[in-house]
Amino acid sequence: MTQDEMKRAAAREAVKYLSMGDVVGVGTGSTANYFIEELAEWGGAVGAVASSEATASRLRNCGIPVLDLNDIERFSVYVDGADEINHKLEMIKGGGGALTREKIVAAVAQTFICIVDETKVVDVLGRFPLPVEVLPMAASHVARAIRGLGGDPKIRGDFVTDNGNRILDVNGLSIKNAVEMEQVLNNVVGVVTNGLFSNRPADLMVVGGVKGVKVARA
Ligand code: 5RP
Repeated sequence: MTQDEMKRAAAREAVKYLSMGDVVGVGTGSTANYFIEELAEWGGAVGAVASSEATASRLRNCGIPVLDLNDIERFSVYVDGADEINHKLEMIKGGGGALTREKIVAAVAQTFICIVDETKVVDVLGRFPLPVEVLPMAASHVARAIRGLGGDPKIRGDFVTDNGNRILDVNGLSIKNAVEMEQVLNNVVGVVTNGLFSNRPADLMVVGGVKGVKVARA
């Protein structure tokens, strides 16, 4: 089984947790793209909230109405991939650069279902470089602050987020306490958000693997 087949299998399984008439929050990335295809095939969602312009465009192309998050107080399920997920269902996200909108949409969802292939499941977060979205004028200041915390930040080339900001990818941070690290990084002035999803972890992890799909709760 290829990694893409495992992603697809996890995406297909996630649809089983939806109810007819749901508004569904949809993440960003290749696994989320498989989920969009499965969602369109299922046909039971009245609309979706998108975590990026790319996802909004894919949803519309599949005929799924895209709703404005400001018009919704709460919706039932958010489904998204991750770059890493641990057994507490804390994640590193933002490999695709959509971390801020992903975190906002996840905050409004009752249930967060993380869909991954088995290579993404780790004991300790931090092998994947941690994305940090920064206001452009603050990039150097934030980089210095991150070096002070023991990290090694690199600006992500010419990449600009949907919000007009830049991304620092950070290696070398020791993320033993993800909740604390998420807060420390968010307190650096100029940081928009960081890719640690630990204050609001997933509620359910759906993992596609060579031996089939496994589901775990924190
Ligand atoms: C995008 C993300 C993605 O969920 C993460 O990068 C995983 O992507 P993929 O499903 O392509 O492996 O956080 O900002």
